[in-house]
Amino acid sequence: MSYNIAVDGPAGAGKSTIAKAVAKELNIIYVDTGAMYRGMGLYMLRQGINPEDEQAVIAHCDEADITLKYEDGIQVVYLNGENVNAYIRTEEVGAATSRISGLPPVRKRITALQKELAAKEDCIMDGRDIGTCVLPDADVKIYLTASSAVRAKRRYDELTAKGQTCDLARIQADMEERDYRDMHRETSPLRQAEDAVLVDSSDMIPGQVIERILELCRR
Ligand code: DC
Repeated sequence: MSYNIAVDGPAGAGKSTIAKAVAKELNIIYVDTGAMYRGMGLYMLRQGINPEDEQAVIAHCDEADITLKYEDGIQVVYLNGENVNAYIRTEEVGAATSRISGLPPVRKRITALQKELAAKEDCIMDGRDIGTCVLPDADVKIYLTASSAVRAKRRYDELTAKGQTCDLARIQADMEERDYRDMHRETSPLRQAEDAVLVDSSDMIPGQVIERILELCRR
């Protein structure tokens, strides 16, 4: 049986930074499930499909073959055989992905791949429905969150560090809109699993959050 840690929470809570560090510490793989959904979002944008057009997204989602590979310990998302890591991290892809990720046919395909991976490998997997739907029997479940103001500021700092000009209030408003959609969709909404431990990182530095999770894993 493989060892699985599930981390869920809203956008910008620091899930990927924390999960990557925990994976390294425990020598297990890190599975970024948002990146898989983003691969699907990117496919729709590239095909000129409006992410709001549910019927069109459903009709075309089987055309996108999303797979994961680990190259030098780094997760690489392949979309129909192409490494798309460089294209999936934009706000545009994030917003489109949030719109399509609630559709049951999209979730069904991506969830199956995630379950398969977790059954084979010791891993820490982050997303929105990992503790509730993908890995209901995970060994450790964390719900990682932070206030929307703190999360928006972190995203703002990240983007400005990359040289992008952006507006903090706009980022916070977009984030709140995305949270609302992720939490209120019919299929696998974002919520804390009953047996998940809540970690609010608003006033914590990454090292403290990592230590808290490692402590939960050691128990
Ligand atoms: O974590 P992220 O920002 O990369 O996720 C992008 C979008 O994908 C987000 O709006 C919600 C969706 N998502 C999801 O529905 N289920 C997951 N397990 C991971 C992400």
